[in-house]
Amino acid sequence: MKALLRALSADGDQHHALRSAIDPDRLPEHIAIIMDGNGRWAKQRGLPRVAGHQAGMKPVRTAIETCSNLGIRVLTLYAFSVENWKRPRTEVEMLWRLLRTYLRRELPELMRQNVRLCAIGRLDALPPLVQQELEDVLAQTSANTGLRVNLAINYGGRAEIVDAVQALVDEARLGLVTTVDEAAISARLYTSGLADPDLLIRTSGEQRVSNFLLWQIAYAELYITDVLWPDFDRAQLLRAILDYQKRDRRFGGLGELPETEQRDEERTARVTNR
Ligand code: FPP
Repeated sequence: MKALLRALSADGDQHHALRSAIDPDRLPEHIAIIMDGNGRWAKQRGLPRVAGHQAGMKPVRTAIETCSNLGIRVLTLYAFSVENWKRPRTEVEMLWRLLRTYLRRELPELMRQNVRLCAIGRLDALPPLVQQELEDVLAQTSANTGLRVNLAINYGGRAEIVDAVQALVDEARLGLVTTVDEAAISARLYTSGLADPDLLIRTSGEQRVSNFLLWQIAYAELYITDVLWPDFDRAQLLRAILDYQKRDRRFGGLGELPETEQRDEERTARVTNR
């Protein structure tokens, strides 16, 4: 938190209210982000879509730095979906080039911040050179103990559930599994062992989840902003966290009822049970 306050003072006084309003004891453990709007950002400026993706690298760095400084445990970023192969070949190739540049350029900073970089998705289908460079960077950060960043690459929520069920079928054939429950499926997802996201952020205003972490977001709080991803700066992320801290999370129950309301509920239950 202290490091964040230092970083924020570099941003100037405008962030003072935001930084003092965040409750360090009620931070989300896991934040997931659908980074959308790169294309629109570029179009608004009369630039090619590629320029929007390039501009989208800075907020990736800022989000990692901010989450790391705040002490958030996990950040999952949707970088490339299984559906994104439908885009023009030139755009897809450019996204792979950008990922390689990102990995090369950011590794020293990730190490400095003690960030562990992981990748989730069907990574076998990535171009061999991308796979190789990705594996190399993942290995170099694997012993880091700070923020865990999951880059979702060639990721699909349905594909992930299919892979988990296939793993269960394979284990059942060997007699290793006889019953299936929620824990058995969770344990075979790419995010096995991690807390589910508490907060799902989507930039650029679309009101959908786009096949992202379908199983894991069952009780995530949704935060959708019209801000396009390249403009999603530190203040925007802090605003999302502040908004999350105002939410009343009930997980299907009634949450914390005020004492008087609880007494009324109990009285009604007694009367109706008579
Ligand atoms: C969605 O915007 C964005 C993507 C499909 C790519 C995400 C890539 C980045 C944020 C940049 C680099 C990040 C890393 C980790 C290397 P869109 O193209 O769908 O935008 P649009 O909806 O406005 O067209």
